[in-house]
Amino acid sequence: MLKGDWDPQRYCQFRSERAQPFHDLLHRIPPLRVQQAADLGCGTGDLTRLLLDCWPEARIVGVDSSADMLRVANQLQGAGAANTDRLRFERADIASWRAPEPLDCLVANASLHWVPEHARLLRHLVGQLAPGGVLAVQMPRNRDQPIYRAATSLLAESPWCQRIAAEALTVTVESPAFYAHTLAGLGLQPAVWETIYQHALPSAAAIVEWLAGTTLRPVLACLDANEQAAFLAALTTRANALYPAGPAGVLFPFRRLFFVASCPDSG
Ligand SMILES: C[S@@+](CC[C@H](N)C(=O)[O-])C[C@H]1O[C@@H](n2cnc3c(N)ncnc32)[C@H](O)[C@@H]1O
Repeated sequence: MLKGDWDPQRYCQFRSERAQPFHDLLHRIPPLRVQQAADLGCGTGDLTRLLLDCWPEARIVGVDSSADMLRVANQLQGAGAANTDRLRFERADIASWRAPEPLDCLVANASLHWVPEHARLLRHLVGQLAPGGVLAVQMPRNRDQPIYRAATSLLAESPWCQRIAAEALTVTVESPAFYAHTLAGLGLQPAVWETIYQHALPSAAAIVEWLAGTTLRPVLACLDANEQAAFLAALTTRANALYPAGPAGVLFPFRRLFFVASCPDSG
């Protein structure tokens, strides 16, 4: 796993923009009787909690590898919200976690791109579904945005480039066709689509702050506080030139890939 744990406060700054794809994913899950479900890479668990209302009979587990994200999830859980006995959180790596019972629905929102080897990963996840079970996934697929090229070239020019692992800015997201063919090859019926959100942010600096809470974590983890500030300031200068403000604010186009794939029913 890459260096740099998650900072729940920093991550949650763009909560409504980050929650929208989760809602859009849920809308495409077919009507299901769900008794066992999991949310892989559940983060702070506030979105996981919404699944309780979708599936009133379900027992749901949120799985995440970050102690800091799970601390927030467990605090919310301890705050006495309804149905808490149906929801629990577990610290584990998605790549190796196994559900104790077959799952009727497995959700992974904005998490699988942090896990490598998607052919192997999909086989692993599909193997945990019950007959008729559904795998519902969303991942960012927006590395064509100029801010990523700016971050890569800034790092390459920086005095710290030797210290930063080559894979620090790398995530795993394959093409839509890869997911369609791989899931069909595993015997599922997949629907695969992409959506480009036009996030209206208050400034180009907000784009950099957005990335600091996710993609740039492994890079920032290699730098001390002064170096982090210098890197983020230089990236903000480039972002200002790349993302001009207009009447709607600064638009950050954000492409996301989705799939919902159903297993055949045994009957
Ligand atoms: C971008 S956040 C998404 C959180 C939540 N699903 C949401 O939509 O708000 C990604 C989450 O995936 C978790 N994650 C990344 N790699 C993981 C792995 N290999 N195993 C378990 N969790 C992982 C991170 O700790 C983080 O909480």
